[in-house]
Amino acid sequence: MTDYGRLFLHLTFAWGVLSLLLLIIAWRKAATGNRTDHKMLMIMLTIGSWLFVLSYILHNIIPGLSIPAIPPRFVPWFAIHGTVALFPLFGATALIYARMKGSNETFLNRHHRLLGRIAAALWCFSHLGGMVNIWLLF
Ligand code: HEM
Repeated sequence: MTDYGRLFLHLTFAWGVLSLLLLIIAWRKAATGNRTDHKMLMIMLTIGSWLFVLSYILHNIIPGLSIPAIPPRFVPWFAIHGTVALFPLFGATALIYARMKGSNETFLNRHHRLLGRIAAALWCFSHLGGMVNIWLLF
């Protein structure tokens, strides 16, 4: 593995730990009624996650930036992880969009608490899975 690939994996791990902690804090903020902090943290985390996905795609398509290949025996697990991770990513984006638009009549806003809990739980799973993935690649 190149030094660059190693650095990318370390940064990815650090982002995974940080965002898992922030996600738990954001969940707690919502549960205790601190709407402003919850909103700010969720927007930050969702933007951060999109940037992470973008950087991951760039690393796979730009020659010279490539990260280690996934060993064939781990491909099914990586596929499951990647698929599950897409749900909270798109889900969080949709929840934020719905809240920003403001109408309480929409399905997403009426069920924000339930959908948010499902998205946050899947998100925690994705972050923990992401950390396992880095360990598998080293
Ligand atoms: C603009 C963005 C957001 C705003 C303004 C916002 C606001 C709120 C508010 C006011 C509540 C209290 C319950 C309610 O009124 O429905 C809440 C609960 C919750 N939100 Fe959000 N939210 C946002 C984004 C998100 C996102 C993206 C997620 C998860 C992916 C999320 C997860 C949750 C969870 C899990 C709860 C329930 C906490 C609990 O009682 O267990 N929120 N949110």
